[in-house]
Amino acid sequence: MSSDVDISLTVNGERVARRVEARRHLIDFLRLDLGLMGSHTGCEHGVCGACTVRVDGKIVRGCLVLAAALDGAEVETIEGVSDSGEIRDLQEAFVARNACQCGYCTPAMLLTAADLLKAKPQPTRAEIREHLSGNYCRCTGYHAIVDAVETVAKQRGGKAGA
Ligand code: FES
Ligand code: FES
Repeated sequence: MSSDVDISLTVNGERVARRVEARRHLIDFLRLDLGLMGSHTGCEHGVCGACTVRVDGKIVRGCLVLAAALDGAEVETIEGVSDSGEIRDLQEAFVARNACQCGYCTPAMLLTAADLLKAKPQPTRAEIREHLSGNYCRCTGYHAIVDAVETVAKQRGGKAGA
């Protein structure tokens, strides 16, 4: 008996209908089936955060979500969020602060930072660190990333504390 499932969802504003294996994870669906390679895979066990994408406005780990469960969902990836201009200031701050080195963690880091600033426009540095703590970065030591997010919070009118 086939374990394939028909799903219809929205990805970056476009309607997508596909037949997927019941065990297909969202991150593989996005990268391998739809060719959206901006989201990355790292641990594939829900630990590193590299696979972070949005489902119905909330960030999730794409390696822990089954595509088959997303019929009717609205998925956003770094490609869509970049194209919309929503995180342009964050992207510019990451570049200005040298917060992306190899860049592997960066798409997920940006989505996670955007999630924080939406929920809490004026985070302290400790809150920024806490919110980003589920996203691993092997290169930067995190300081530059926290600086970049703090910079944007200030630019948007918040006052990030020490
Ligand atoms: S690849 Fe999903 S959390 Fe690491
Ligand atoms: S910039 Fe290389 S893993 Fe974060």
